[in-house]
Amino acid sequence: MSRKISIFDTTLRDGEQVPGAKLNKRQKIEIAQQLAKLGVDVIEGGFPCSSPEDLQAVKAIAEQVKGPVIAGLARAVKADIDSAWEALKGAERPRIHVFLGSSDIHLQKKLRRDRDSALEMAVEAVRYAKNYCHDVEYSTEDASRTDFEYLCRVIEATVKAGATVINIPDTVGYAIPEEFGDLIKRLRESVPALDGVTLSVHCHNDLGLAVSNSLAAVRNGASQVECTVNGIGERAGNASLEEIVMILRTRASTFDLHTDIRTKEIYRTSRMVSRVMNIPVQPNKAIVGSNAFAHSSGIHQDGILKDRSTYEIIKPEDVGIHQHKIILTARSGRAALRHRLATLGYDLDPEKFERVYARFLNVADRKKEIASEDLSSIVEIELTKVPETYTFHSLQIMSGSTMVPLASITLVKETQKLTDAATGNGPVDASFNCIERIVGQQGILRDYDLKAVTMGKDALGEAMVRVEIGGAVYSGIGTSPDVIEASARAYLNAFNRFFANSH
Ligand code: KIV
Ligand code: ZN
Repeated sequence: MSRKISIFDTTLRDGEQVPGAKLNKRQKIEIAQQLAKLGVDVIEGGFPCSSPEDLQAVKAIAEQVKGPVIAGLARAVKADIDSAWEALKGAERPRIHVFLGSSDIHLQKKLRRDRDSALEMAVEAVRYAKNYCHDVEYSTEDASRTDFEYLCRVIEATVKAGATVINIPDTVGYAIPEEFGDLIKRLRESVPALDGVTLSVHCHNDLGLAVSNSLAAVRNGASQVECTVNGIGERAGNASLEEIVMILRTRASTFDLHTDIRTKEIYRTSRMVSRVMNIPVQPNKAIVGSNAFAHSSGIHQDGILKDRSTYEIIKPEDVGIHQHKIILTARSGRAALRHRLATLGYDLDPEKFERVYARFLNVADRKKEIASEDLSSIVEIELTKVPETYTFHSLQIMSGSTMVPLASITLVKETQKLTDAATGNGPVDASFNCIERIVGQQGILRDYDLKAVTMGKDALGEAMVRVEIGGAVYSGIGTSPDVIEASARAYLNAFNRFFANSH
C-alpha cells in the first residue's frame, strides 16, 4: 500500500528569510489559512524569538489556523524555546522545532564547541522543550556535512531525550541524490531509535538538487519533507512543495508514495505567496510558471489539439489552473462577481467583498473584460493590503521621446487630498519621485518587476517593487490596466508597509 509522506511547509519561516519578503501578522495568517486549505500537514509559522512581531504572528496562526500541526523554530537555548512555546501554546497541535549545528564546520567555526558539549546542549534543549510540548522536532543543522558516527550519536540521544521528529537538513544544498538517499538509508539501519519517530528531510537548492535530494530521501525511508511554495527560501531556496507533490502524484506507480495535498489549490497558493511576499515566479518554473502549460511550437499545438496526452503529463485543472477564460465586465454586478469568486474558491465576508467589488469596478471600467487571473490578482492584493496611511486617488502623466517626463499624483490621507508633481528619467521614475514628495520620505528602488496578468494588449499590469526605506527593505505590489499606475500603486504600497511598521 502507498506510504504517506507528510508535507511540512516552511514558506512562512525559511521562505520568509528571503530579503524583503518579511510579512506582517495579517499576511502570515492569510497565507497560513491557504496552506491549511492546501492540506499541508505542518505549517512552520516562523521563528518566534527572532522578533516580537514574529512571535505575535506565530501566536495568531496557532490560535486561528485549524487542521495542520503548527510549528515554531527555536535555537537550542532556553530563551528561544520559551518564545516558541509562548507563540505555540494556543495551537490545537503545537510543535517546537529545535535546531543546532552538527557538522565540524558549524561546531568549530560558528558555535565554538566540541562535539560532546554540543551533544549535551542538544539533549538539554530537547528535554527543556519537552516540558512544554509533547511534539518536539530536532534538526541536526548541516547534517549532510556531518561526520556519520557523530550524527548517529546526536540522533540517538535526542530521540532518547524525547524528540518525536528528527530532521536531516542539507542546509547548504551540498548533497547529491544518491549520496543523500544513502545517508537516510544508513541512518535508518544504524539508529534503531529512528523506528519510533518521524524521519524528516529539509533540502536547500544551491546546486538545483533540493527536490531530487528530497525524493531520494523519501525513497529511502524518510516520511516527512520540508519544503516551500514556489521553492522560495534562504539563498537559492528550499525544495519546491508543488514539484514534490506533483512528482509523487504523476509518478505514483514508480514511487508508491502519496501526500494529502489538495492539488487543485496549488496554483492559487503559488500566486498568493508570490504576490504577498513579492517574489515573482520564473515563467518556466515547473508546475506553476506561466509557461508550464503553454504550448508554442506548431507541432506541439497540433498534437495537443488532437490529444492532450501527446505533450501534457499533468492536467492544468489538477493544479487549479483553469484555461477557459471566464469573462466579467463592469456591468456584471455584485451577484455575478460573487458567483465567479465562489467558483475560484473565494468566500469573502461582506466588508472584504465590497472592497474587492470597488476595485473590480475601477479596473473593469478601463479594461473591458476581467478574466479569472485578473480577478485573483485583484482579490489577493486587496485582501493582503496593509492598513493604508495614504490611499491612491489618481495620476496624470506627461511623457514623450522629446520631453522631460512629468507625473502629477493625488493621494488621500485620512480625508485630505494631497496633490504634487515631479519629473524623472521616465514616467515611472517621475511617479515614484512624486510619491516621495507627497509622503515626505525617500526610498531607494532595489527591485522592480512588471508583468501582464493575462494575454492581450489590454492585459492587467502587475508591478512588484522592493524599496529600501529608512534602512529596511519593503515590498509593494500594484495592479492596473495602466502600467505606470500599477507601478505607482506598488511603490505606494511599499511606503504604506513602511508607515504601518513605524507606528
Ligand atoms: O536549512 C536548515 O538547516 C534549516 C534548519 C533550521 C532546519 O533551515
Ligand atoms: Zn533551511
